[in-house]
Amino acid sequence: MRSVTTVADLRRTLEPSRRGGDRIGLVPTMGALHAGHLSLIARARASCDVVVVSLFVNPTQFNDGADLAAYPRSIDRDAELARGAGADILFAPTVAEVYPAGFRTTVSLSGLTEVLEGAQRGRGHFDGVSTVVTKLLNMVGPDVAFFGQKDAQQALVVAALVRDLNIPTTIETCPTVREADGLALSSRNVHLSPTDRERALALQRALHVADELISAGEHRPEIVLDAARAVLGRAGLEPEYLVLTRPDDLVPVTRIDGPVLALVAARVGQTRLIDNRLITPAPRPNRQVTAPC
Ligand code: PAF
Repeated sequence: MRSVTTVADLRRTLEPSRRGGDRIGLVPTMGALHAGHLSLIARARASCDVVVVSLFVNPTQFNDGADLAAYPRSIDRDAELARGAGADILFAPTVAEVYPAGFRTTVSLSGLTEVLEGAQRGRGHFDGVSTVVTKLLNMVGPDVAFFGQKDAQQALVVAALVRDLNIPTTIETCPTVREADGLALSSRNVHLSPTDRERALALQRALHVADELISAGEHRPEIVLDAARAVLGRAGLEPEYLVLTRPDDLVPVTRIDGPVLALVAARVGQTRLIDNRLITPAPRPNRQVTAPC
């Protein structure tokens, strides 16, 4: 695996592959790699000739300086893990390389970004994500880029910006990786105390209860959400949001008649966690039609 820190070096390194028509895959990360990231790298390895992993803790997507300062950083460990998972190139630019003096462009999407994470973390969050992802796609020029379903809203935003800006990259969204007990992997999990680690399981339990009710035929979102909220409450958690939306545009549903995306965010101790689940109601049994005499 080759490590590069500048865009010029990255492009020089990729040039022979690009000229040879190789399929280039990008896995964008902010480091602190865990099995979720490694599954994206493995997926890229399985379908691409060249795998680039970017590692950049993007300051513009943090609304809270303390959150940025506390974000776990472990570049040597990350490099080892990326190499082990099959990366060919580790691109780890500095902040000055990504945002040189005089930088003045923001990529901002309307719709999709104002709700949920956008509402909780501030409008600047998705502006920061959209701008840095656009830059990374332009820097690397991948055929395909891999994102995790755990950040469901981010995956929708990235897919929309690629479509809107005609960026010739396919966005592949890969399943959330979970611990054996169901906790969604997150770089933030390292901050959980043993007690909070236990309470954090309530997020996926709440999604599971929602799934069970919907699968049993419940059509009323408020009934499903009340039951899911009760699960969080028993763990002493107050959700920042807990919603059932249409999967493609995050509009809350008023009746459950098709697939819905259940999304939850909650602070567990000092640690903010998110999770989601795509829930598809069981098909309705065919109505018996009696033939007229
Ligand atoms: O999901 C992340 O780790 C980040 O939001 C991303 C996509 C690497 C952009 O900084």
